Amino acid sequence: MTRVTKILLDEKDMPRQWYNIAADLPSGLKPPLGPDGKPISPDMLAPVFPMNLIEQEVSTQRWIDIPEEVLEILARWRPTPLHRAYALEKALKTPARIYYKNESVSPAGSHKPNTAVPQAWYNKQFGIKKLTTETGAGQWGSALAFACSLLGLECKVFMVRISFDQKPFRKLMMQTWGGICIPSPSNETAFGRKVLAETPDTPGSLGIAITEAIEAAVTDPTGQTRYSLGSVLNHVMLHQTIIGQEAKKQLKIAGEKLPDVVIACAGGGSNFAGLSFPFMIDKINGAKMDIIPVEPTSCPTLTRAPFVYDHGDTGKMTPLLPMHSLGAGFVAAPIHAGGLRYHGMAPLVSQAVIDGLASPMAIDQLECYKAGLLFARTEGIIPAPETTHAIAATVREAEKARLEGKEKVILFGFSGHGLMDLTGYDKYMSGQLTKHEMSEEEIQKLLKDVIATHPAP
Ligand SMILES: Cc1ncc(COP(=O)(O)O)c(C=O)c1O
Repeated sequence: MTRVTKILLDEKDMPRQWYNIAADLPSGLKPPLGPDGKPISPDMLAPVFPMNLIEQEVSTQRWIDIPEEVLEILARWRPTPLHRAYALEKALKTPARIYYKNESVSPAGSHKPNTAVPQAWYNKQFGIKKLTTETGAGQWGSALAFACSLLGLECKVFMVRISFDQKPFRKLMMQTWGGICIPSPSNETAFGRKVLAETPDTPGSLGIAITEAIEAAVTDPTGQTRYSLGSVLNHVMLHQTIIGQEAKKQLKIAGEKLPDVVIACAGGGSNFAGLSFPFMIDKINGAKMDIIPVEPTSCPTLTRAPFVYDHGDTGKMTPLLPMHSLGAGFVAAPIHAGGLRYHGMAPLVSQAVIDGLASPMAIDQLECYKAGLLFARTEGIIPAPETTHAIAATVREAEKARLEGKEKVILFGFSGHGLMDLTGYDKYMSGQLTKHEMSEEEIQKLLKDVIATHPAP
């Protein structure tokens, strides 16, 4: 056998620094704003995050060292493999060479531990004893519970109600790692009680769960609890850049130059940022590359929502962030890709789209599940519903390459496995899932509200 199917790096080849694209974005990053409409100061975030992470959040330093102890923990599953998807290429009869970076090999099954570990570590350094967080599909909650268990912190997770019901095993994973997981909205916070009183049947949303988790952190009278976010913020994008840095080295070993197309699904934007930012710097410097964040048509943040200042959560506890947003009150249809139901998008990813560095795509869940099944039946790994969005876009790009007769190199992010998400597959295979696209009327109504009430960056 001469061909190489997966490209592995040695532990010693793990990146030692995170790449901060804030240093290189052509038009820079707009600052978050406080309630008075003025840029916030770092100390205003101090009740919510530890100062060492706030420093990373506002940093414009291009390279930031990864602490040794964090590297030692990441080395339990990193570097992750880069696979050449020969079987998928064959099934698609495409001349494209398709590679995928497999983040599903982490203990929690996704890219999320890449930031959960450093976040828990920095909080511990700062003397924090307990972290609160939200989770959509449960991938982030289980990643943080895993990281907290390794570092000896308590962990409480507010899980979006619909996913809590759809994915009971994610809750059990969190409990196995010693975390506490409750459905959101809950009776544990003033905000949760208010939402339940107004809409007792709500499926919940990431925006609501974030408010509850922040409220739980800032109202802890001991002052030893902080909040942790699994996406959206600058320091989370930063921590994920080890993915793209590794992939770049691996493509080189495979004999490739830069990819022609880089694809990842985008919920809050972290796995997309993690894979693409180390390549985006080449695009900023003139390389030709299509960089595609993929979202669901039922939550079309980057493709159809305006770039505005909006809150990261429904209860408006976070500062106003410059991002593409469907409005902090938006509750997406209860699709199974729970991690892609977020109303906003990371400011760094939003700015990259505004700067023309990334070209977003929205795909319906039926096309995504179809691509997910094709992947499972060719490459073998069952993808998370979020990940199927990246695969569906890859299928589209591979077919385009076939029609154009071009030998393109396509790299996509395999952000997680779907072994805890099989109910979604069950519903798809038994024909119970429907196409879901927001109508123009729904969008226009939202846009009127969002644009009318929020300042433009
Ligand atoms: C497997 C997987 N991929 C992607 C996402 C989307 O999040 P992000 O855009 O932050 O990568 C999630 C979020 O829960 C996820 O679980």
